[in-house]
Amino acid sequence: MQLPARLQQVRVARTAQKRRLICQAGGKVMLEVSDLQAKVADTDKAILKGVNLTICEGESHAIMGQNGSGKSTLSRVLVGDPQYEVTGGSARFQGQDLFDLEPEERARLGLFLSFQSPIAIPGVSNIDFLRLAYNSRQKALGKPEVEPLQFYGHVMPKLDTLHIDPSWLDRSVNEGFSGGERKRNEVLQLAVLEADLAILDEIDSGLDIDALRDVATAVNGLKRGNTATLMVTHYKRLLNYIHPTHVHVMRAGQIILSGGIEVADVLENEGYEGITNLLKKEPALQTT
Ligand SMILES: Nc1ncnc2c1ncn2[C@@H]1O[C@H](COP(=O)(O)OP(=O)(O)OP(=O)(O)O)[C@@H](O)[C@H]1O
Ligand SMILES: [Mg+2]
Repeated sequence: MQLPARLQQVRVARTAQKRRLICQAGGKVMLEVSDLQAKVADTDKAILKGVNLTICEGESHAIMGQNGSGKSTLSRVLVGDPQYEVTGGSARFQGQDLFDLEPEERARLGLFLSFQSPIAIPGVSNIDFLRLAYNSRQKALGKPEVEPLQFYGHVMPKLDTLHIDPSWLDRSVNEGFSGGERKRNEVLQLAVLEADLAILDEIDSGLDIDALRDVATAVNGLKRGNTATLMVTHYKRLLNYIHPTHVHVMRAGQIILSGGIEVADVLENEGYEGITNLLKKEPALQTT
């Protein structure tokens, strides 16, 4: 039977994904997550139930999925949030076993998460926080630490791109910031720290139209040939700005479908029921 055009597209994307076990254009695998399982620490509550995900340098991945499917948990487990305990599977980042590394060592290797609900740090100015974090990474990379004046030179262009008022630098981290301002501030951190793999958990939630464009522009500005992004989002509007190379759907602690932007189109047009129907018709598309 002839498949409808849309299903064919998804099938092509799926086949392409299988073939892409080796990264395109000779790029390196940056993150390789295999059968990752995790639970809430000190409880029996399992959340991640076998996640598989490979991200190569230069790629931009989006994870979509209903509330409570495990997207934030995956993000947090990858950066080493002690709320969660890894119970199975593996994750390698830049060739190293991620779970052998302390959270700060993961950050020094270039892995950063922008939180769904960024926290405030009263009493610590944004500029001091950024310089401390930047210098810690510089040190890890064997590069010299930078003085305050020199650091201003590094931060100012990033403020410009994000349309952030320089007065933010002297304010305490996120204190008194609106939800959207906190998101912008998070992207400023990623830009300043020059993340290799930036995980963006709902960076678009609570942003007004202009802020969404500014933040997306800044995220695009993070892209260099050897960096990658992993975005968690509920809406295709962010993906219209940050064109993902891969789109995944998460359900009940697993990635159940992977493809290109057409996966987000199915979701946008038909909701999660569309994905369920698609997998019923084409069980071979299911990844787990
Ligand atoms: N520390 C925790 N203690 C208890 N339950 C937790 C904890 N962390 C996550 N969960 C549960 O695990 C499930 C997945 O949560 P998670 O925050 O990862 O979902 P999500 O996919 O990010 O959802 P959303 O789209 O609403 O942000 C939810 O049912 C949540 O209540
Ligand atoms: Mg979440």
